[in-house]
Amino acid sequence: MGKLSGKYAIVTGGGKGIGETIVNRFLVDGIEGVAVLEYDGKLLEQLISDLGEVGDKVLPIQCDVSNEAQVKTAVAQAVERFGSVDILVNNAGITRDSMFHKMADDAWDAVVNVNLKGPYHLCKYVIPIMRNQAYGRIVNISSVSAFGNAGQANYAASKAGLIGFTKTLAKEGGPKNIIVNCVAPGYIETDMYNNVPQEIITEHMKLIPLRRLGQPNEVASAVSFLASDDASFISGQCLIISGGATT
Ligand SMILES: NC(=O)c1ccc[n+]([C@@H]2O[C@H](COP(=O)([O-])OP(=O)(O)OC[C@H]3O[C@@H](n4cnc5c(N)ncnc54)[C@H](O)[C@@H]3O)[C@@H](O)[C@H]2O)c1
Repeated sequence: MGKLSGKYAIVTGGGKGIGETIVNRFLVDGIEGVAVLEYDGKLLEQLISDLGEVGDKVLPIQCDVSNEAQVKTAVAQAVERFGSVDILVNNAGITRDSMFHKMADDAWDAVVNVNLKGPYHLCKYVIPIMRNQAYGRIVNISSVSAFGNAGQANYAASKAGLIGFTKTLAKEGGPKNIIVNCVAPGYIETDMYNNVPQEIITEHMKLIPLRRLGQPNEVASAVSFLASDDASFISGQCLIISGGATT
């Protein structure tokens, strides 16, 4: 019996990086079924083929989380297949970095629409299900950039918004046994971080007491804990996963 056995989850952006690792970790921890909402259809195909037999527990759904109609349909598909949603992980996220005075309107909109409005869409359709069953675990993936990072005004605003959203949903959901937390990773070695120029990575490294980048499994293990009943009295928290780097 794993700590997620008997549970059904939705994970967004599960095609690669941290999201894919969360899906794998949930499977190791005994999840009964997981719907993966992912923008990139090729990544979904790859995920299912990589998973082999255990892929039977995964429902791949091509979905842009910034599109409300697509999210509504995807949640309905997950419920049709699994009968319920116990766990929601809002992981899908993008960056469109530049200094604020050079930032294009569409860079602002794209980042806020995926990183903040995406979780809003998911919660809009999942929270009523969780309220009805008086059980829910939501984990939002924020970032240490929420506390301010030059070149990321759009991303920082979206990720800080997610922390406020988390804390508010935790207060509203508590009486219905809906637990809501977020994690704020520091520098994690995925494609997203690999876009950062080497000289900036070298500078970042000096600020990390562990003197290395984090790995996706070091975020996934915390997400699985927060999604499980091991964390049944923890709500409204933002867990920083940064190798000891302070913000
Ligand atoms: N890598 C880091 O250093 C780091 C640090 C802090 C926070 N984060 C956050 O962790 C989460 C995962 O990041 P990652 O590093 O794995 O990134 P990644 O780019 O490797 O993966 C992101 C995944 O989300 C999917 N996605 C993007 N837009 C989508 C949309 N509109 N709808 C559905 N899926 C979409 C992508 O196709 C991809 O599969 C993000 O929310 C990111 O902001 C990452």
